[in-house]
Amino acid sequence: MIYLNGEWMPIEEARIPVLDRGFIFGDGVYEVIPSYSGHPFRLREHLARLQSSLDGIRLANPYTLERWEELVHEIVAKNPWEDQGVYLQVTRGVAPRDHAFPKGVKPTVFIMSNPLTTPQPGLREKGVAAVTVADNRWLRCDIKSVSLLANCLLRQSAADAGAAESVLLRDGMLTEGSASNIFVVRKDIILTPPKTNFILPGITYDVVIELARANGLPLEIRQVSEAEVRDADELWLTSSTKEVLPISTLDGKPVGHGAGAGKPGPMAARMYQLYQDFKRTVMRAPANA
Ligand code: PDD
Repeated sequence: MIYLNGEWMPIEEARIPVLDRGFIFGDGVYEVIPSYSGHPFRLREHLARLQSSLDGIRLANPYTLERWEELVHEIVAKNPWEDQGVYLQVTRGVAPRDHAFPKGVKPTVFIMSNPLTTPQPGLREKGVAAVTVADNRWLRCDIKSVSLLANCLLRQSAADAGAAESVLLRDGMLTEGSASNIFVVRKDIILTPPKTNFILPGITYDVVIELARANGLPLEIRQVSEAEVRDADELWLTSSTKEVLPISTLDGKPVGHGAGAGKPGPMAARMYQLYQDFKRTVMRAPANA
């Protein structure tokens, strides 16, 4: 079942008017929230980011925090899968085509859920291929906007090269992936760029940083140069659907040095385990936590 503007229905029955500004202009924002065994993960944080995205596009939040929480729990309960990826989207609504905001229009609210398939152990143990691509997106990458044309083109560059993700570089610095954040390990230090307008503030990124700090793993949040990315001991991508996934080749070259080159490193394995343990503690919490 999906949710559309106050109603529940099978996805096949859901209809959006062609003048929806989400369709015409990509004028909307979204979230992807993983849910494990009926427990939405970091729900408050996802809904806080939704609020920042709405503020970023100057769209009033159509629902209260409590209503959003209820809806996310409801969609998880209405769908059969053990682990789910809840997708929610808010657009500026339906209006005659004009770039400036329409007045008195109700936002469109759409929520769906899909089975969540996180990377299987085989893939994690092997790592994925990535390519570097120039980050040519706009300057508000901190807004989780449905205008994802640039991200789609960037991801397709990876797909064309038979790779899973593109690692984006802007002015000689690492930003993020086309649909993930990127972590670098060099000399046993975990490096990742700070939250600026150039990256999406990932919920998984925050969890990884918290876990590194809580477990005394050396971490530096600072600009990371292209040279550091290319000379990394380890590269990981993080996202709600991919969790912590090692990158084993970059532009066709093995990531890392010596005997471990081209193979996921020990820090990735450690962080993956910490992430799984953390998830398990969340799953033991009450369903409305
Ligand atoms: N994408 N950066 C970008 C550009 C993203 O699209 C995503 C997530 C992330 C990671 O954020 P989080 O850890 O909160 O999932 C970083 C989602 C999963 C998507 O578009 O499907």
